[in-house]
Amino acid sequence: MTSTVSARTGLPHWETQPADLPGAITEIKTALRERIAASGRTVAEVVAEIEDFLTAEIADINAAKARGDEVWPVINYADIENQTVSPETLALIKRRGCAVIRGHFDRSQAEKWDADVVNYVESNHFFESYTGPADDFFGDLEMSKPEIYPIYWSSAQMEARQHPRMAAVQAFLNSQWIHESEGKAWFDPDRDSLYPDRIRRRPPGADSGGLGTHLDPGTLDLWMTEGYQRHFRHLFAGDFASYDPWDAAYRTDAAQYPGSTMCSAFRTFQGWTALSEMDNDQGVLHTVPIPKAMAYLMLRPLLDDVDDDDMCGVKPNRTFPANQKWHSILMEAVSSIPSVKPGDSVWWHCDMIHSVAPVTNQKGWGNVMYIPAAPWCAKNAEYASSVREAFLAGNSPSDFPEENYEASWPNRFTEADLNEIGRRGLGLQD
Ligand SMILES: [Fe+2]
Repeated sequence: MTSTVSARTGLPHWETQPADLPGAITEIKTALRERIAASGRTVAEVVAEIEDFLTAEIADINAAKARGDEVWPVINYADIENQTVSPETLALIKRRGCAVIRGHFDRSQAEKWDADVVNYVESNHFFESYTGPADDFFGDLEMSKPEIYPIYWSSAQMEARQHPRMAAVQAFLNSQWIHESEGKAWFDPDRDSLYPDRIRRRPPGADSGGLGTHLDPGTLDLWMTEGYQRHFRHLFAGDFASYDPWDAAYRTDAAQYPGSTMCSAFRTFQGWTALSEMDNDQGVLHTVPIPKAMAYLMLRPLLDDVDDDDMCGVKPNRTFPANQKWHSILMEAVSSIPSVKPGDSVWWHCDMIHSVAPVTNQKGWGNVMYIPAAPWCAKNAEYASSVREAFLAGNSPSDFPEENYEASWPNRFTEADLNEIGRRGLGLQD
């Protein structure tokens, strides 16, 4: 398929995945290089400016580590509820792009949810019926008893998703973004779409290879579709100073290329809630806590040392890799979450690089419910309509493999159990 040039961006764009990927990559890279050159600077000069910024951020992160401070901002839930989060902490969330919420839920509540999940799967003989991983997203799972449970509709998960404390934290996090810009409201920060995801329960003694550094917002569509070209308009004009990773402009309008790792919803933050204690050296989540590192990921492929038909290894239907070969400057900044307790929650900006460290003979459990912040917008409302059908049928949501384990389970969470937050999140009421 040949490209068309967008009247809005002046760039060639492909709203569906091009058949000739090497040709399309070559074409968009040529156009982006020309656009950046028109700003009066070369790509190399713009990337050097970004590297200077990153070097200063990494020095700050290393200084925090040397002092023994947490790199991740830590917020007490009570300060969110009382709107008493300090300006310094708010600034640090913007700078680092991630946060741990202490006491998001009471420990006893989180431990009850953990026990409820076990009762839910055992009462429905899940381990006897489990047929193995249906996707290769978590490629190290070669065992009959999974660590990632393809379970979506337990009372525990739904109670957490529709809990007023979850809504308060999501609204707080969403409001760190600019949700109105360019003359348009991009999303409603005060209403979440209850994006359903899975559970992880990793037992004591587990060995895990972890997950390498990657990011989840998209793949080649980030350069090739009109919506993302508009979202990254400042970067693609060589104007790093004007790029704001917290401005949602055009983001919720952008087309995405399908793939097994695609998230159909716009998430301001990815996140999970801890259901067990996890020490920070037990195979936990790490990030590169620099939201503006996205500028480097987007422009680094335009340098001359990358083949014309290559975007530093980014391919459709695969997670977006960040690695030593192309992004060595960023690898130094990889930073662990603090140790967490049941009821703490963990959040990171949707464009940020993250990884899960390997672990051998894990100490204690490693149990989480994946619950992101996915604010209400046209894009998320559309996905919510398919989520609603999956919920009512007990099926896997359409972003996930069609495993549908829960369809015949009698004790899953029902429509009658929804509160107002849950009904609004599923689009059952406005
Ligand atoms: Fe990820």
